[in-house]
Amino acid sequence: MDRTLGRFPLLLVKPPGVRPDSTPDICFPFSWREWVFLSLEKALGALVMQNAPVKWKLTGGSRLITGSASRGDAAGQEEAKFDVSPVDPFLRKAAMTLAKPLSAKAGGPLRGRVCPPGDKSISHRALILGLLSLGETEIEGLLEGEDVLRTLAACAALGAKIERRGEGQYRVRGCGIGSLLAPRQTLDFGNSGTGLRLMMGVVGGHPLTACFDGDPSLRRRPMQRILDPLLRMGAEVLAQTSSGRCPVLLKGTAEPIPVCYFPPVASAQVKSAVLLAGLNSPGRTTVMEAQATRDHTEKMLQHFGADLTSEPYGEAGRKIILDGRPELRPAPIRVPVDPSSAAFPMVAATLVPDSDIVIEGMMMNPLRNGLLVTLLEMGARIEVLDERLAGGETVADLRVRAASLRGVDVPAERAPSMIDEYPILAIAGAFAHGETRMRGLSELRVKESDRLVAIAAGLQQAGIEAHIMDDDLLIDGRAGDVPGGGMALTHLDHRIAMSFLCLGLAARRPMAIDDQRMIATSFPQFQQLMEGLGARFQ
Ligand code: S3P
Repeated sequence: MDRTLGRFPLLLVKPPGVRPDSTPDICFPFSWREWVFLSLEKALGALVMQNAPVKWKLTGGSRLITGSASRGDAAGQEEAKFDVSPVDPFLRKAAMTLAKPLSAKAGGPLRGRVCPPGDKSISHRALILGLLSLGETEIEGLLEGEDVLRTLAACAALGAKIERRGEGQYRVRGCGIGSLLAPRQTLDFGNSGTGLRLMMGVVGGHPLTACFDGDPSLRRRPMQRILDPLLRMGAEVLAQTSSGRCPVLLKGTAEPIPVCYFPPVASAQVKSAVLLAGLNSPGRTTVMEAQATRDHTEKMLQHFGADLTSEPYGEAGRKIILDGRPELRPAPIRVPVDPSSAAFPMVAATLVPDSDIVIEGMMMNPLRNGLLVTLLEMGARIEVLDERLAGGETVADLRVRAASLRGVDVPAERAPSMIDEYPILAIAGAFAHGETRMRGLSELRVKESDRLVAIAAGLQQAGIEAHIMDDDLLIDGRAGDVPGGGMALTHLDHRIAMSFLCLGLAARRPMAIDDQRMIATSFPQFQQLMEGLGARFQ
């Protein structure tokens, strides 16, 4: 129990009642021997719990571990002997067998009205600000996707009391800035970079130690961009992998140093982590963004009564100043429709001949509408109807009719306003007349997958010529005649999965994806909603 492996404490998590398969990253419905493997891998670098009802005896180094474990309860004693390596090829292969392929094929036109789910970015922030305010925050329209549910669990682990009152309806009783609880186990964010990085900001600004981890996709993603400013503010990294990735054991500070931070990349997650850490600072925290990114954290902090100003900076940036230690007052939140999810029916209806659909309540925030701007430039037939204010954001209904598109040159400066929409824009480019060039996409390499590579490879599977030139993606559009017929590899990336299914809905032959499981991270009702419009999957 108290042994150490390398410099990491090795105490394993197995709270009573938690099933071995509750960790969907590598989800083994096998015997608990395999789960032992999973836990060991997670335990390398993990802070964990005393008093777990599992007893461990371990020998060996970090590559090969042998030992035995037992657990006992009233029903009897269970014992397993194991001999596992964190790189056991059999177990990796076994994990792959759980992938669930899906394919989409062309049928009739898409017709009807749909209301895609609530915005993922806003949903994460609503829970986190609920945690950080004193009193009860009522949330409506929360996205109940796996990513957000991970953040919900992390908020609960830090002390929030969260009650589900109906579909998408939640009540969060927060602890207030400075009064969070230390989590008793690893904060496992699954596939969610946003949840994890925002919560690193929260922990970084509090006198807490927490271990952050996620699935194999999240473990590949860079964390140093978040840790650098937090270290400047006084947080410490107690342990992390040599490449600066998860798992990360982070020790926050009781008194974050007020900083003026210039994020080296255009990233709302970096900006938000700094602001969230700055909430507990005795002074002012400033973030200077060279390129404005989504402003949901700023807007929501203002909504909760924080003293925050945001003004233009340079040609396209923002300067954001936050006074520390505000008393955040709970304020009701209505989560608008996620433009990044609405993007899929929007592009599918543009591509499938004779389609005519209405997407209700789409958020029109100008820092999120780059896809709409680009599709209109390409000749899409999208009408913006009934613009109105809802929950502090402008929303509108969009009528989308099928159209033939022309290729365009998408400038790099537009990337922050459509950073998650390039996979589906690439599908639109494949159906357009002429070439589409998307510039300045280096950030796509560090999303849930290397999206530049995943998009290009998937398009080639569908019979489309696509090339990566430095950080640009070039697609040779097929003027509506896309062969399809292949299988796109999704690399645990929900948006790659949904994009290639949309391609299949308008291609000559069906298009498959190797794994649909990750769609549930952001858009659990994707298949059902699309089938309601007439889409065909098998
Ligand atoms: C998000 C910011 C973006 C985006 C992500 C959600 C957010 O990431 O890709 O899906 O909610 O702040 P970056 O900040 O890394 O660009």
